[in-house]
Amino acid sequence: MRLLVTGGAGFIGTNFILYWAGHHPDDDVVNLDSLTYAGNAENLKTLEGNSHYRFVRADICDSSAVYAAMEGIDTVVHFAAETHVDRSVLDPAPFVRTNIVGTSVLLEAARKRGIRRFHHISTDEVYGSLGLLGSDKFSETTRYDPRSPYSASKAASDHLVNAYFHSFGLPVTITNCSNNYGPFQFPEKLIPLAITNVLEGKPVPVYGDGKNVRDWLYVTDHVRAIEAVLTKGNVGETYCIGGPDDHVPNSMIVKTILKLMKTDESSMTFVKDRPGHDRRYALDWSKLERDTGWRPETDLAAGLTATISWYKEHTDWWHRMKSGAYGEYYNKQYGNRMT
Ligand code: NAD
Ligand code: DAU
Repeated sequence: MRLLVTGGAGFIGTNFILYWAGHHPDDDVVNLDSLTYAGNAENLKTLEGNSHYRFVRADICDSSAVYAAMEGIDTVVHFAAETHVDRSVLDPAPFVRTNIVGTSVLLEAARKRGIRRFHHISTDEVYGSLGLLGSDKFSETTRYDPRSPYSASKAASDHLVNAYFHSFGLPVTITNCSNNYGPFQFPEKLIPLAITNVLEGKPVPVYGDGKNVRDWLYVTDHVRAIEAVLTKGNVGETYCIGGPDDHVPNSMIVKTILKLMKTDESSMTFVKDRPGHDRRYALDWSKLERDTGWRPETDLAAGLTATISWYKEHTDWWHRMKSGAYGEYYNKQYGNRMT
């Protein structure tokens, strides 16, 4: 395969490219990323000198750069996005631009280039929010009901991808995945924020009553699911991806991290809730298992242990990510209480 990966310098994109280079060493990978605050080209420094890997710094909204980068490509794997819900509440505009306009630019270039597979990475957040006490789950047939500017922009991008399948016959697939965690995640998201705050001796902020539930998935399991869809999935289909039934409230996630890091529970600090905070996510991933045989392999205890070790061993990486403009965002989001 000759892949164009967008957003490959971000969290999941980095994990995907490193996995792909290890498991499909003869495939060519072009990584197109504009390196926003969330992107870090250094993540892939182990691939420097690898003749099968090339980095292109470009914006997915730049149609000529995108068209040029697709020369000779057969498969597009589209990760690039603005991804943080809290930032989308502070300022929706970059989310509309990158997630909607950027996706449409990529689709148009893919159509003109005759791309053989356009795989779009999306989120479970397009389905809205489940009741806290139920045991129901989102599936591929759940009605779209996005609640944040982030999830609304991702929902719009999913609709565009489907429209290119029906209107132009572009061979697309979509995956809607639950919350990922693991190495290289920007420390604005709950799990890396909690781990790095503990390492810095800072309190760990928990929104509202801490009872919101997410469906946690170790990032390598997400990457394996994308591999399964690219190699065994059916064109025109959407697949939900979720974790190994680790449906745990946020306060329990934080307490588990504190316990694994041998830190007192008093570090957990309840703060003002996120506006429109979705209560619970849970995913039914049986269609993906049926069509490809994929199942998640890493449970929460093993995944959190591995993630904590990675952040302990990569303090330079997250210190750099947390310096500069991050401090400005952090103070705006959490105020002075949390420093
Ligand atoms: P991230 O924020 O860590 O990385 C995003 C990457 O996209 C960065 O490298 C950034 O530089 C790049 N990017 C942003 N705007 C760009 C633009 N205009 N042009 C080119 N590059 C640009 O994101 P992530 O957590 O790795 O998420 C990747 C994808 O997976 C996203 O589409 C997201 O919606 C989806 N997703 C994420 C999760 C999760 O839990 N993190 C779960 C489900 C789906
Ligand atoms: O569900 C998939 C989505 O997961 C992805 O599409 C998004 O890109 C990704 O950011 C993530 O969204 P969430 O909003 O669920 O992730 P976040 O880590 O921001 O928050 C996880 C939960 O923890 C959520 O209920 C809000 C809560 N939270 C978050 C932060 C940052 C806190 O309680 N305190 C915090 O400081």
